[in-house]
Amino acid sequence: MAEPKVNELMEKVVSLCKRKGFIFQSSEIYGGINGFWDYGPLGAELKRNVKDFWWRSMTKLRDDVVGLDASIIMHPKIWEASGHTSTFSDPMVDCLLTKKRFRADQIEPQSGTVYHFTGAQAGPTGKESTEAYSVLLPAGKNSESARKIAYRFYQQRGVNAPALLGERTEEVSQSIRYNPENGSLLTEARNFNLMFKSYAGPVESEDNIVYLRPETAQAIFVQFKNVLDVSRQKVPFGICQIGKAFRNEINPRNFTFRSREFEQMELEFFIKPDDVSSKQTADSSISEGQPQPNWGWSEWHKYWVEERVKWYESIGLSRNDLDFYWQKKEELAHYARATVDILYKFPFGTQELEGIAARGDFDLTQHQKFSGKSMEYFDEETKSKFIPHVIEPSAGVDRLVLALLCKAYAEEEVTDEKGNKEIRIVMRFHPRIAPTKVAIFPLLKNKPELVAKALQVRELLRPHMNLVYDESGAIGRRYRRQDEAGTPFCITIDFDTLGNEKPELKDTVTLRERDSMKQERVPISGLLELLIGKIT
Ligand code: GAP
Repeated sequence: MAEPKVNELMEKVVSLCKRKGFIFQSSEIYGGINGFWDYGPLGAELKRNVKDFWWRSMTKLRDDVVGLDASIIMHPKIWEASGHTSTFSDPMVDCLLTKKRFRADQIEPQSGTVYHFTGAQAGPTGKESTEAYSVLLPAGKNSESARKIAYRFYQQRGVNAPALLGERTEEVSQSIRYNPENGSLLTEARNFNLMFKSYAGPVESEDNIVYLRPETAQAIFVQFKNVLDVSRQKVPFGICQIGKAFRNEINPRNFTFRSREFEQMELEFFIKPDDVSSKQTADSSISEGQPQPNWGWSEWHKYWVEERVKWYESIGLSRNDLDFYWQKKEELAHYARATVDILYKFPFGTQELEGIAARGDFDLTQHQKFSGKSMEYFDEETKSKFIPHVIEPSAGVDRLVLALLCKAYAEEEVTDEKGNKEIRIVMRFHPRIAPTKVAIFPLLKNKPELVAKALQVRELLRPHMNLVYDESGAIGRRYRRQDEAGTPFCITIDFDTLGNEKPELKDTVTLRERDSMKQERVPISGLLELLIGKIT
């Protein structure tokens, strides 16, 4: 049966990522390691552009957010205070036959006949097992295959050539007790903490246990007072951070979507508690639509959802590509009053890109309690002390890069210079985040005057943008290479640039735009300004 189209798209994206050097499997020559990925030359540029633009939008284009770059390993008490040591876990089950581990809440329900066995015996004098075991077979499957699976189970327990005991059958519907891959019974669900553990220092003792941070947020909370003291900010203001986070996910999946090592871009925006802000009057000097210092948490929450959506639009994801999920009360994390997930319509389903949580004063209060240090803020205007509340837009870099790759991928039929039809693969990245901004081609590599001019253009643009210089192959092939890399502009230096026959075209080049494939003649002297306007 043919695969549905959406999976085809995902396969094509994954294959292009490897072929063009966006993303490689980590440790590939050793067979790979599940849940870890490496970004190749184009991927590294794409990811860096996404992070740089987020950082610029938060810290440079606003007055009320400052940055932090904290250590990954922090004092283990932080994770006790935040609740991660006790509650940051997923329920997991293991296959009793293969030992493969699954997230209990992600097992696909199955229906069919269950074959129960009470044990097995090797023979009158041989080893016996009294361990009960069951196998689920979907309707229509031969009962012998359930017995074969049970033989393997009891053989693993040392019972040779087992005779199965106490067989009985039962019809079940929508059961999540069996491995969907082989029908074997699963263990009972157990909670599995997702934090990676290690030891700081030479002694592997309980006292030296440390964790790789599962989120960047906590460093911001514990440095809140230090940043406040040095940055001359007043509440409301934010602290943002980009950095690695680690989660020992039970089932990493969907390419980079759920990884064990990933990057987050997090903002903790500190606001006044509602009772303090309601005591203040609106500031008439602030224009309509601008954030107001005395907003309550729900206004700030809505404001940040809208800000983040506008940001996604500014890098090429439209509102139509996104969806929103307001978490229900029972789904909220222990710290959250409200959370909106911004979702992207991935080929494998509509899934979370970013969570925007109203965290109340949970984190600062917890760190005040566990550290014994005050996390209170003194408000000059109201002459009152309070622990600020927090709005947290928290985005995953790798998920966003995956969304941008899926969104950019396109195939279209085009006609080449000789009139032949061909399929062009083109990555339609927004120029702002495209890994390479421009490619520079001398029309012919064996004409020194063309090469010299092309190198001159390269030196003009190089300090300002990531570019490639390519002189090999037919010009059409060079365009195709750049289309697949998502390069928004190509510059060709041709005989007209030299101005021998048409003096009016001297020192002009052709600028080709990736999506429309339209070419225009542009003077070299105007190139830099024109391109800067399009890529920033
Ligand atoms: N500080 C809040 C926090 O960490 P989260 O929803 O657990 O909230 C925030 O994570 C974002 O981090 C997610 O929206 C997602 O983009 C990204 N993320 C979380 N787990 C991930 C994983 N295993 N692989 C890739 N990205 C992940």
